[in-house]
Amino acid sequence: MRMGFRMPTQIVIGAGCRAQLPTLLAGHQWTRVLLVVDPGLVGLAWFVSLRRLLESHGVHCPVYSDFSVNPRIQEAERTAEAAWSASVDAVIAIGGGSALDTAKAAAMLATNPGKALDFVGCDLFPANPIPLVALPTTCGTGSEVTWVSVLTDEKNREKVSIKGVAMFPAYALVDPDLLETLPASLLATTAMDALTHAVEALVGRRANPVSDALAVQAVALVFKYLEPLVASAGGDADARYHIAKASCLAGMAFGNADVAGVHCLSESIGALFDIPHGLANAVLLAPVLRYQCDELGERLDYAAHLAGLCDAGALRQGLPFLDAVAALADRLNIPHFRSLGIAPESFDQIAILAERNGSNSSNPREMHAADYRLILEGLAAGS
Ligand SMILES: [Fe+2]
Repeated sequence: MRMGFRMPTQIVIGAGCRAQLPTLLAGHQWTRVLLVVDPGLVGLAWFVSLRRLLESHGVHCPVYSDFSVNPRIQEAERTAEAAWSASVDAVIAIGGGSALDTAKAAAMLATNPGKALDFVGCDLFPANPIPLVALPTTCGTGSEVTWVSVLTDEKNREKVSIKGVAMFPAYALVDPDLLETLPASLLATTAMDALTHAVEALVGRRANPVSDALAVQAVALVFKYLEPLVASAGGDADARYHIAKASCLAGMAFGNADVAGVHCLSESIGALFDIPHGLANAVLLAPVLRYQCDELGERLDYAAHLAGLCDAGALRQGLPFLDAVAALADRLNIPHFRSLGIAPESFDQIAILAERNGSNSSNPREMHAADYRLILEGLAAGS
């Protein structure tokens, strides 16, 4: 029997909720923490204030920021060493997916001797990780509510996943105000990642009634609030709240129902070309769905109808939804695949990696390297 829906993370979603961090730490008597923070955030006023707030409550909180946009396995190992040598009670992850995934792997590696590659798979670590508190600062990752850390294995040029029940963050503080300093382009691409999580959770083979409810809500919120958020460059507080919420809901959905073909391709491209994850998904979402449309039309119609994108009379094998996704990407100025600079000579390698991806079996239809190659060729030809 497959496990049902699981969500052990305690979640707070609300403007300014990061201020609850000192109280949360005090409740557990966690007085030494490692702040694993996206490098670009360390100098921002809100981060400096948050760190001072922790220090004023007697929390020892060194900062660690030495990791990449697509974090490497060695970077997670070095982060674990920093956590271990500082004898921390908890790890606080602050940033986008790269910070959260680095921190999740590091919190596990700090209590489980070995290399990151020893733990690729599910529940392969014997000791519980150091407790983790996640504060997402983008609106796409969803990693604050999932049990997986996705890292790049540079040597083998692929992404690997370390997952386990104990890797769910203990807490997620989803503070929409942290989106205020995110550039509009990152608001757009990371929220398109959230949309991808929701859609792939909906159409994939592992969809379940609870993930469906979360995913449909996330889809509706992205379509309603993403453009106002981007147009206001993060200044619209109402839109910030709803998009931050959508990202978290979509994270819970895919964390239980998995992602599928879009992520199989985007993770392969990310591993080989270091292209940011949100951007890759934003570029690929509509084309991959279109390729699979025959199999998932009914599910996309369901999503389109419940998300208010069309009325029941206009349902046509997923086409209204596909058109809506493609039009949204256009209005957000998501670039075309061809502008990513990926040469056709690499298509075979990308396609093979995509088929080997752990989420390939969650696709609504069977997908092989030849299918992924066809999608890439179509994109290169301009479709
Ligand atoms: Fe993603």
